[in-house]
Amino acid sequence: MRAVVTGSAGFIGSHLCERLLREGWTVSGIDAFAPTYDTIGRRAGVARLASHPRYEFVEGDLNRVELGHIVSEADVVFHLAARPGVRASWRDFAQASDANILATQRVLSAIAEHPHTRLVFASSSSVYGQVDRIPVEEDRQLTPISPYGVTKASCEALVSAYSGQYGVSAVSLRYFTVYGPRQRSDMAFTKWIRNVFLGEPIRVFGDGKAVRDFTYVEDVVEATFLAAGEEQAGHRIYNVAGGSPVDLNDVFDMLGELTKRPMDIRHEEPALGDPDRTGGDTTRIAHDLGWHPRWSLRDGLASQVDWFAEAWKAGLV
Ligand SMILES: NC(=O)c1ccc[n+]([C@@H]2O[C@H](COP(=O)([O-])OP(=O)(O)OC[C@H]3O[C@@H](n4cnc5c(N)ncnc54)[C@H](O)[C@@H]3O)[C@@H](O)[C@H]2O)c1
Repeated sequence: MRAVVTGSAGFIGSHLCERLLREGWTVSGIDAFAPTYDTIGRRAGVARLASHPRYEFVEGDLNRVELGHIVSEADVVFHLAARPGVRASWRDFAQASDANILATQRVLSAIAEHPHTRLVFASSSSVYGQVDRIPVEEDRQLTPISPYGVTKASCEALVSAYSGQYGVSAVSLRYFTVYGPRQRSDMAFTKWIRNVFLGEPIRVFGDGKAVRDFTYVEDVVEATFLAAGEEQAGHRIYNVAGGSPVDLNDVFDMLGELTKRPMDIRHEEPALGDPDRTGGDTTRIAHDLGWHPRWSLRDGLASQVDWFAEAWKAGLV
């Protein structure tokens, strides 16, 4: 099997590439090293993968590279490239819409020329916005409350349009806050672990009572891999959620126990576009793909702390 992975140098994309290679796939990765966060770790990861005989890397922007040839040979395109992040999307909507909406349309238009190529698209729980009750099912009305969420909802609508009109077989996966080794340095867990290591205060948006359905990266990769096996026509949508929403204060307790260091937590104003709670109903993906989250938050967080300590020593974070 041949895969194209967009955003292959990123946090989730790099884990997905490793998994596909282990499964015997041939992988073409594309990434532009967007300056959303530091690139040292991402470049080191690409260099490591590049030594694999079934891996090739194309450095380039999806809005500029010639995609037709790369996509024509693929059984599945895993489209993960994006400018993620709620706060950044308020600051620069042009960048978020270029990287998310326009690039997704380009990927879809390349796939539409090749009816045998399937798409797995990385969507987000941000499409739901502020929900009145959790867990949220996939059919709940989408009311995103951030520009980032709007871009992901628009991408899903584009996937539906191409799927309906060109017959592209597609799966969109709504990932809920993903964490684990190599998590982006602009995301909360990596920031907080760094603060604890440096003895700095941890700055938290809001009172710490926000609830998140954290999902371990290996579970996310498993769901993404299983989605590639769906060969039916049409556009299917699944929540990919860790299954046990917790509030941020619980995470601080766990982090304190794991690092055995004091936690100096400073609360700040809640951030615009962050919902009070997220929680995904995973009945549909369990039924259709047999997927269940396997990692507990405690084990997953321990593994992220271990990764950070190693990467810190090696100067990669
Ligand atoms: N991490 C999460 O918690 C989370 C949650 C929900 C959804 N998602 C989605 O999952 C996907 C992967 O997220 P991540 O956390 O690994 O992010 P990431 O930033 O680590 O990876 C995305 C990669 O895409 C690349 N990229 C961006 N624009 C590009 C372009 N125009 N051309 C080529 N490459 C480009 C970046 O350089 C980056 O390496 C994204 O689509 C994101 O929106 C992530």
